[in-house]
Amino acid sequence: MRHSFLVASALAALAHTVSAVTGAAEGFAKGVTGGGSATPVYPKTNAELVSYLGDSQARVIYLDRTFDFTGTEGTAKETGCAPWGTASNCQTAINKNSWCDNYQPNAPKVTVNYDKAGILGITVKSNKSIIGVGSKGIIKGKGLRMVSGVKNIIIQNIHITNLNPQYVWGGDAITIDNADLIWIDHVTTSLIGRQHVVLGNNASNRVTISNCKFDGNTSWSATCDGYHYWGLYFTGSNDMITFKNNYITKMSGRSPKVAGNTLLHAVNNYWYDSGSGHAFEVDSGAQILVEGNVFQNIKTPAEADGGKMFSSPSTSANAVCSSSLGRVCQINGFGSSGSLSGTDSSFLANFKGKNIASAAAYSSTTVKNVPSTAGFGKI
Ligand SMILES: *[C@@H]1O[C@H](CO)[C@@H](O)[C@H](O)[C@H]1NC(C)=O
Ligand SMILES: *[C@@H]1O[C@H](CO)[C@@H](O)[C@H](O)[C@H]1NC(C)=O
Ligand SMILES: *[C@@H]1O[C@H](CO)[C@@H](O)[C@H](O)[C@H]1NC(C)=O
Repeated sequence: MRHSFLVASALAALAHTVSAVTGAAEGFAKGVTGGGSATPVYPKTNAELVSYLGDSQARVIYLDRTFDFTGTEGTAKETGCAPWGTASNCQTAINKNSWCDNYQPNAPKVTVNYDKAGILGITVKSNKSIIGVGSKGIIKGKGLRMVSGVKNIIIQNIHITNLNPQYVWGGDAITIDNADLIWIDHVTTSLIGRQHVVLGNNASNRVTISNCKFDGNTSWSATCDGYHYWGLYFTGSNDMITFKNNYITKMSGRSPKVAGNTLLHAVNNYWYDSGSGHAFEVDSGAQILVEGNVFQNIKTPAEADGGKMFSSPSTSANAVCSSSLGRVCQINGFGSSGSLSGTDSSFLANFKGKNIASAAAYSSTTVKNVPSTAGFGKI
């Protein structure tokens, strides 16, 4: 007993000395350092976590347990609405900012009973690394929020879950709005009320989202079919997003919706099973390069609505990438899926001189394995 205790202590001490993040950001957020070499801290309570995330010091914050915020701010019982009906597998909506009154005036009114902690995420200030230990770093009932000019933040290897999944406006897992140099890596999100990731309308500048698992599997959906509709929302006014090696599954819409003035590099991701829905919503202001991805069981890979997309359609067409990216682009793979039609390469020049992620062939082992390598607990 004594012996194994000593071994366990030695291992724990070793774990505490392992420094900071695994790997480095590729693409637009290359160079992000987060909390750098600050002395690691291990919050033990919700209050400590909130304090470390929100203070003005550079910090390396390890999450070695579940932080459960459900119930910590009480519950609210209000009148909301049911735009998609009252069947038990449909999401209903909180009347947040009079959304039901303004946008769903004819929807049946229903009572909503939600957890108030889910509505607004925890504030994360500049110069922070937030790192999960093994598969222990879980935040339940509250998301993370990077706004108002914050800069240089790394979030790696955590799971954010259970934000009022029954209710639209029940909470967003990760919010970025008016920020710069943010890296989200090996993060899993599940059972979210609203967006899994939302980049709001203000400029969020340089962002890399890599190796994440966005899990839309739910019992309450706006499409009433077990698939979450509100996936990823990228509408910033000056945003450059590298989106690589992510696994997006059981999302029926907006995965992602892209608008504003967003340059999105979607490379080597794996979209799996959208039910009756779509992956990309390509709205006005979107500039999307899609290469080297797998679309498996994705009914509508993209809904076009005024934005620009280059979908790397063929080896010959993809040569056009060379002058802007310094290499050719990779074609995408489609299995039991619709097709992508984007052939607009006019915006590729905007990649020139930027940090650009590399691209593997969609058929490579790396991309095929994304479903098992993405998400938390894998590094
Ligand atoms: C973040 O760290 C950089 C480099 O040390 C420093 O210049 C900057 O003031 C810090 N930002 C904040 C908001 O603390
Ligand atoms: C977004 O920009 C507007 C206008 O500049 C500002 O009032 C608002 O506070 C900003 N929001 C955030 C989250 O930074
Ligand atoms: C979806 O969630 C349900 C309920 O938790 C679970 O039984 C099922 O296995 C999940 N399906 C997938 C594809 O993850």
